[in-house]
Amino acid sequence: MNLFRTKSIEELIRTSNQGETLKRALGAFDLTLLGIGAIIGTGIFVLTGQGALTAGPALILSFILAGLACGFAALCYAEFASTVPVSGSVYTYTYATMGEFPAWVIGWDLILEYALAVSAVSVGWSGYFQSLISGFGLRVPAALSAAPGAVKGVTTFFNLPAALIVLLITFLLSRGVRESTRINNIMVVIKVAVVLLFIVVGVGYVQPENWQPFMPFGVNGIFQAAALVFFAFIGFDAVASAAEETRDPARDLPRGILWSLAICTLLYVIVSAIMTGIVPYPQFEGVDHPVSLALQVAGQNWVAGFIDLGAILGITTVLLVMTYGQTRIFFAMSRDGLLPKMFSTVHPKYRTPYGSTWMVGTVSALVGGLVPLGQLAELVNIGTLAAFTLISIAVLVLRRTRPELPRAFRVPGSPVVPLLAVIFCVFLMLQLAWLTWAAFVIWLLIGLVIYFVYSRHHSNLNRPSR
Ligand code: ALA
Repeated sequence: MNLFRTKSIEELIRTSNQGETLKRALGAFDLTLLGIGAIIGTGIFVLTGQGALTAGPALILSFILAGLACGFAALCYAEFASTVPVSGSVYTYTYATMGEFPAWVIGWDLILEYALAVSAVSVGWSGYFQSLISGFGLRVPAALSAAPGAVKGVTTFFNLPAALIVLLITFLLSRGVRESTRINNIMVVIKVAVVLLFIVVGVGYVQPENWQPFMPFGVNGIFQAAALVFFAFIGFDAVASAAEETRDPARDLPRGILWSLAICTLLYVIVSAIMTGIVPYPQFEGVDHPVSLALQVAGQNWVAGFIDLGAILGITTVLLVMTYGQTRIFFAMSRDGLLPKMFSTVHPKYRTPYGSTWMVGTVSALVGGLVPLGQLAELVNIGTLAAFTLISIAVLVLRRTRPELPRAFRVPGSPVVPLLAVIFCVFLMLQLAWLTWAAFVIWLLIGLVIYFVYSRHHSNLNRPSR
């Protein structure tokens, strides 16, 4: 049993649900909107507070650094995604090109990315929800307002709003409700409008002396914050995955990816500059709705309320996309025999992976209720950065081993860009806390055990008839 046995591309097309070709309807503009819809969420609305505590006002440099890493990785991701002419996730592409074991590792990493991202994003949702209802004089009881140990000096047990929103999303997805392109576009407009509203109103309240000292924690603070706010960019892989539905992928994919990343980076830099300009950065300690807090400090409570509402709506779509993505990765791995069949069993009436959706939703809800945001985000980041590193290496390997494969999109400047992606991603990984590394290594070890004990023996590739 070879660790690097591959699924044939023909086989892939046959087993793929979408064996027929998808409609090539998307252009660079649609892709940019798709990207922004998946990217803007908890990262900018919540993690900027923690980022400011780590880097001070120099947080803007952290965003630029993380944005660059994503740009290089995204180009590699796009080449990889466009190499295998079926729709699916990078897990599927790896399976057809690099082999079963690398595919398992990437799939296992992606599970960490998506499932925990759902939990992390739900914590961000909860922060804004609580900020919004506080405007109406309502409060969630302190014990149920946050994960244990999340707020200094307050005894908290469980983040109830975070868990409830995940269960609600799970309910919708299990019934087959999917985000449509139209809803995505509306959400993008709302999200960007809210961010612009913050910028336009907030800029008048900036006090430049708050930007001094600019780098209170030196370059190390900037690097560490970059590894944390990397989270704010996750989601751009949605653009790369749409390769097959793009009219002219060679031209539009890089445009869609780079435009959505550039726009988000610009917005993030301006927002963090204004936030740290209004509120002295130490005051972000323990705050889970930093963007609206800045306007509350400025005395603009009404505008802050709008921002709460926009953030809640915007973060909800990220939750939908991530939960959906998670169940579909399980689905693909289970269909290949690497995970038990229950993960690809479809509900007779709703035509969704019902049991799997509820399992993912319940676990993500519990984790979101019990683990503080910072730790969750770091874990998501390490999983994602690891997957991006592997993908960037895969692009280089495949250029040598399978030069004949058709590639709708090719990374410009190879091998420099893939190498830069690897260097940036590994560098950011090295900035993360040792506890994050420990959890990541444990996760990988569990994955290895499952692979060697279960998946390898149950893989469809063992069946000679196939
Ligand atoms: N980039 C997404 C967010 O910040 C995951 O919510």
